[in-house]
Amino acid sequence: MDKFVIDGGRRLQGSVTISGAKNASLALMPTCLLAPGIYHLRNTPNNRDVWTFSRLLGSLGVHAELNGNTLFLDSSNITSYEAPYEHVKKMRASIYVLGPLLARFGQARVSLPGGCNFGPRPVDLHLKGLERLGATIEVEGGYIIATAPKGRLQGAHFHFDISSVGASVNILMAAVLAEGHTTLTNVALEPEVTALARMLVKMGAKIEGIGTTTLEIDGVDTMHPTDEETIPDRIEAATYLIAAAATKGDVLVRNVNPYHLTAVIQALEDSGAELDVNADTIRISMAEDPKPVDIATAPYPGYPTDAQAQWAAYMLHCTGAARVRDHIYPTRFGYVSELIRLGAKIDTDEGQCVVFGGSKLTGATVMSSDLRASASLVIAAMMAEGQSEILRVYHIDRGYENIEARLTAMGASIRREQTEEY
Ligand code: EPZ
Repeated sequence: MDKFVIDGGRRLQGSVTISGAKNASLALMPTCLLAPGIYHLRNTPNNRDVWTFSRLLGSLGVHAELNGNTLFLDSSNITSYEAPYEHVKKMRASIYVLGPLLARFGQARVSLPGGCNFGPRPVDLHLKGLERLGATIEVEGGYIIATAPKGRLQGAHFHFDISSVGASVNILMAAVLAEGHTTLTNVALEPEVTALARMLVKMGAKIEGIGTTTLEIDGVDTMHPTDEETIPDRIEAATYLIAAAATKGDVLVRNVNPYHLTAVIQALEDSGAELDVNADTIRISMAEDPKPVDIATAPYPGYPTDAQAQWAAYMLHCTGAARVRDHIYPTRFGYVSELIRLGAKIDTDEGQCVVFGGSKLTGATVMSSDLRASASLVIAAMMAEGQSEILRVYHIDRGYENIEARLTAMGASIRREQTEEY
């Protein structure tokens, strides 16, 4: 197990280059199951979730190899249609192999994902969508057993009762090889879904309405491999922007798409940060304590749930009180009790917390509980006086490539140490 040791009170200054988007890579990687052959996914982040998904694809017969930030995939020889619990328990996105396996091979056996630290995360929309496309779905022994009775899925109309990134990804990959026409309504607008749709079209899929909540798909008989460039990680970018403002720093964030971050940019400007937004860079500087700014998460383009914990940490030094609401994951506040160990004054209630500014933060040992909670603790530890230790940093390694090197390059005092503590 590793921990981070952080000496707080240092301003972030300099620049950081954002990696490819973890949640785009996890959507693009399973497309290799739709067409045999060789793929190069450029700008793939070198992080734990990509390694986990690569091992899962490997267990299906795909040769997956990350060379720097280019992921080489060879899916010429698929040998299994089963995603075992050992992989799925580590990462919910493993369920993304269900749609393409079913679409291409007419069968799949995928472990039900467990919950995670911020609450139950059902997959009912994934299963309902596949049934609408003609699949028979059984759940037995913790596994989803899916088959296409006619050997091939059948086009249909499916409406997503709620906006779901994962269900949109899975059903879209199922529909592109289904026989006939499929209409999907209330499709998630997250950039990662749009990126997937664009890659599928490069592979020969017929999709209209990309970038809107309604996708019209004409199923094709076969598709072909392609190379693809992964979009920048908007959540990683949001994390570094917030960290820069929280430490009263001055940072240039490179390889960012500002259009993917409009809600976060607005909240930062409302808090008093100075932002200079350009085509693929954002420079942020902050000299004062932030003004209190309430946020409420919403599906894209709303404020992202994956950046709410980071915002709560930032508001610990605000000149008042700020309310953080999460309508997507109402129990995603596990990080609050850890921030309180650093001296934070925060009240929590169902689906929200209220952060009281002016907290005197002093270093302590704290525990990561999930990927974005860890980022919140790193930010708060950099704001605190004295030394903090953050345990279970394997959480943060899931989605932040080289985070300690990137923060150190901007002047933070952070080092990784092995520990028996966990
Ligand atoms: C994706 O998860 C992201 N993961 C999450 O990021 C992100 O928090 C989430 O979208 C919301 O933006 C990846 O892209 C790999 P959803 P996903 O389906 O697809 C409910 C991170 O930190 N729902 O959009 O699992 C669900 O409970 C991770 O990078 C159902 O009810 O999220 C939630 O309330 C954490 N039934 C809402 O929909 C379903 O079948 C949105 O979830 C599916 C979802």
